[in-house]
Amino acid sequence: MSDRIEEVRSQALQAVASAENLDQLNQIRVQYLGKKGLIQDMMKAMKDLPKEEKPAFGQKVNVLKSEVSTAVETKQVELAKIAVAQKLEQERIDISLAGDNLRLGTTHPLVMIQQEIEDLFIGMGYKVAEGPEVEQDYYNFELANIPKDHPARDMQDTFYVDPNTLLRTHTTAMQMRELEKAHGTKPIKLICPGKVYRRDDDDATHSHQFMQCEGLVVGDHVTLTDLKGTLEFMANKLFGDGRKIRFRPSYFPFTEPSVEVDVSCPFCNGKGCSVCKGSGWIEILGAGMVHPNVFRMNGFDPETTSGFAFGVGLERVAMLKYGINDIRNFYLNDVRFLKTFDRFD
Ligand code: PHE
Repeated sequence: MSDRIEEVRSQALQAVASAENLDQLNQIRVQYLGKKGLIQDMMKAMKDLPKEEKPAFGQKVNVLKSEVSTAVETKQVELAKIAVAQKLEQERIDISLAGDNLRLGTTHPLVMIQQEIEDLFIGMGYKVAEGPEVEQDYYNFELANIPKDHPARDMQDTFYVDPNTLLRTHTTAMQMRELEKAHGTKPIKLICPGKVYRRDDDDATHSHQFMQCEGLVVGDHVTLTDLKGTLEFMANKLFGDGRKIRFRPSYFPFTEPSVEVDVSCPFCNGKGCSVCKGSGWIEILGAGMVHPNVFRMNGFDPETTSGFAFGVGLERVAMLKYGINDIRNFYLNDVRFLKTFDRFD
């Protein structure tokens, strides 16, 4: 009987050792350790043994059983590891293969200019104000010193929603909302960027929608020189160091005096080139000192209050800065155009 134990032991251990995969190992386990397995058979056979041999035999079979169990468990761990390694190998991903490029969006050039202008004015302590694009005639015109029959209304062909509601024609509407809100409280230092609309026929230099950024400073002793210094600073930041500013007399109903502002041409440094049409100067914005009527209508005393305002066209700045020659590009959403701004981001 002891020989039989030895025989089963060496067969079982050999079978376990040579199992090639978990299925085979399981079969071997059932064959030896299962309820109807060889080791169990030996236990059953014990009843035919003489009484005095039973304990010693039983013990040996138990030792055999635990030996084979341990061998199976150890082998199982080993084979499981191999199985995982094989699976990983089969499902290996070649990460060196070129993938599909996901095209990322870029910041729109007008947004870039807007952010740049916001950053530089926030740096000087200005706040950024907002207002509605669908505006009341009152803020767009009346408060800006442009009453109903004022000829200056013709300067800006307006999209009307109804006789008192329109698409704002300039960011000056937001300036008026802010002045009305402040109602005599000084100082005020803000910019209001936003979209504006005019009934223009679209061509390379005209668009029925475009963007402006208004600037407004109100205090006790604000002067034209402050305006000039501020705009010079902005021009240098936007177009590079060395820019000069030039004021030309102009007319806006909401400022007095009013000026049109030229910047020395950043392409030829003022010498004259095709961009500035030989003049050395490029017009970039309108500005002036806040009109006494505007102050009066908004609850400020023009005798003791002064202020400057300016409005700059963002498309104009972007066209100069990035060398864009057709304003319609900003609104066509052509990815080929937008993609060229990757490098500026
Ligand atoms: N609102 C003027 C325009 O749209 C620009 C401007 C703003 C002029 C503020 C003077 C002061 O042309």
